[in-house]
Amino acid sequence: MERVQKILAQAGIDSRRKCEELIKAGKVTVNGIIAKLGDKAKTTDTITVYGKPVNIEHKIYLALNKPRGVVTTVSEEHGMKTVMDIVKTKERVYPVGRLDKNTEGLLILTNDGELANLLTHPRYNVEKEYLAVLDKTLTEKMLERLQKGIMIDDKPVKINKINAFQNKATLVIHEGRKHIVRRLFEELGLYVKQLVRLRVATLSLGTLKPGAYRPLTQREIESLTSRLRGRHSKPL
Ligand code: URA
Repeated sequence: MERVQKILAQAGIDSRRKCEELIKAGKVTVNGIIAKLGDKAKTTDTITVYGKPVNIEHKIYLALNKPRGVVTTVSEEHGMKTVMDIVKTKERVYPVGRLDKNTEGLLILTNDGELANLLTHPRYNVEKEYLAVLDKTLTEKMLERLQKGIMIDDKPVKINKINAFQNKATLVIHEGRKHIVRRLFEELGLYVKQLVRLRVATLSLGTLKPGAYRPLTQREIESLTSRLRGRHSKPL
């Protein structure tokens, strides 16, 4: 049993808060009875909003190690292999955010619209950790520039944490701008030979091999959702 507003938010109706308002306004029914705030329901119950039945799917959460050369789109453009060709599920899932075609690593796929929104919306400040293998050694001076905040399109890129050794760097950012890591190093005259996403918020890639995927554990799902809700301004 879950709170009705949670079920509605997960079904993509609106945010939890807005769904609470819909319940308070008497616009929601559960099995034909007007729901009250605080009511709980099962995902097998018939829920309506403004008289229309809500499509409640079974929620799926997956972690994929996206291999290089695969695109993060749902439609098959130009005959390229997509992450949807790798992940086979009964219910449709969607990638949360994007990775470049040549970036590897952690990609979350889900049909939980609320979690996807929490993880990708800039206001939630979600941390992402990357490993970049560069064509040259990263010097102290370059490291300093990165730490100060390199300007890209007139906006500095804030790096929460960076560790570098020779031509390898791991960095934690909460940016969602396209090609941001590659562009950062390009500004320093370096080329990113390999880019791997190691972590998104509290979820780590771990030992998943490229092309492999697994369901998230209940604990991992709870860690992602509960730490995001109510902690909107702090990096996760
Ligand atoms: N930064 C990039 O440059 N590429 C990605 O895929 C992700 C972050």
